[in-house]
Amino acid sequence: MTSQAPTLVPGLAGIPCAESAVSYIDGQAGILEYRGHRIETLAAQSNFEETAWLLLYGTLPTADELAGFRAKLARYRELPPALLATLAGLPKDGHPMAALQAGYAALGMHMEGKLASRDEDIALLIAATPVMVAAFERARQGQPFVAPDPSLDTAANFLWMLRGETPNVLESHVLDVALVLHADHTMNASTFTARVVASTEADPYTVCASAIGSLKGPLHGGANERVLIQLEKVGTVDRVRAWLDDQLATRGKVMGFGHRVYKTKDPRSFVLQTLARELFEKTGSTPIYDVALELEKAVVEKLGEKGIYPNVDFYSGIVYQKMGIPTDVFTPIFGISRVAGWLAHWREQMVDNKIFRPAQVFVGSHDAVYTDLAARG
Ligand code: CMC
Repeated sequence: MTSQAPTLVPGLAGIPCAESAVSYIDGQAGILEYRGHRIETLAAQSNFEETAWLLLYGTLPTADELAGFRAKLARYRELPPALLATLAGLPKDGHPMAALQAGYAALGMHMEGKLASRDEDIALLIAATPVMVAAFERARQGQPFVAPDPSLDTAANFLWMLRGETPNVLESHVLDVALVLHADHTMNASTFTARVVASTEADPYTVCASAIGSLKGPLHGGANERVLIQLEKVGTVDRVRAWLDDQLATRGKVMGFGHRVYKTKDPRSFVLQTLARELFEKTGSTPIYDVALELEKAVVEKLGEKGIYPNVDFYSGIVYQKMGIPTDVFTPIFGISRVAGWLAHWREQMVDNKIFRPAQVFVGSHDAVYTDLAARG
């Protein structure tokens, strides 16, 4: 009796791979919730630390829990000097995402098994991620490391460590909201990666090192960097439509548009667009924003009926650029936030773990004949 061949679903589109209570998307209605809370509410009223706690532990923290979590994150920003030296010694022309991946692996070598509980590892990983990004950035610019400031929250401290200057309130707020928006997004590629690696019972440092590799790709987190490069290439509003026609004629993707689940505008891109407008009103607009608005209009006219609308990456890069952040640091910022989601999924995966081991559709051959090396053509 021959067994029935499994049917392949490319990209596992629509195939559930886990039960999860962390976040929820309605792709038709454009709804995103973390633990039942709408993303717009969290963006307006919460902050990154509270949101990370919510994702990890399922409920909003009490005032004491939040204060304790913030204090712990501030403490864990103090990284082993040898780790900082490792980051500073990496190739200066390497991508910051590769540095972050190396950083997670090195952090695991320094810390694995040293902390008292899984929750301590989680706090350390969330605290360490922005520190490692800032440390590599300073080193590759030939600037000295800026020690973390325990009085600042994650967003403000990151800007402080990146620049060595106290960030203004608006910039810190904008980055904090961006971190809230990126913290989780159901079973995206990097979260799936995190859960697959978690399912092998690998340590959480390895889980994050693996997930960051997945996030780096241009179809996932790496899109935010490409969006800006694309907008700069288009250059001016009057060139948008001709550029788009060329791009589509060669079947090129327009970065920052389209989504496996959303078939309408990503709710996070509405929030980011509003933030961009706020930032520009207070600090002066940039021509790139007008190019982006025109590109959105043109893409939606041409591809809207296929369900292709702006995703989260379309407006994030414009905001980060305005804040003077280098283009290749955009995706690491995504990682600074998404690490909270990966670790929430890691906790969830470990509750009733079963190692991931999907099937394949075999398309190879059988009965191959082994020929001696000397006899091969
Ligand atoms: N530009 C032009 N055409 C597109 C785009 C786009 N951005 N996205 C999808 N399409 C077309 C695609 O060519 C295909 O057309 P056809 O049916 O004629 O062959 C159809 O729409 C379906 O596209 P797909 O690539 O099969 O859809 P998917 O669900 O596998 O991919 C996606 C989703 C996000 C990878 C894709 O939309 C894409 O590559 N977008 C550009 C990269 C991007 O912005 N990524 C960020 C995603 S959101 C944040 C994150 O996950 O990190």
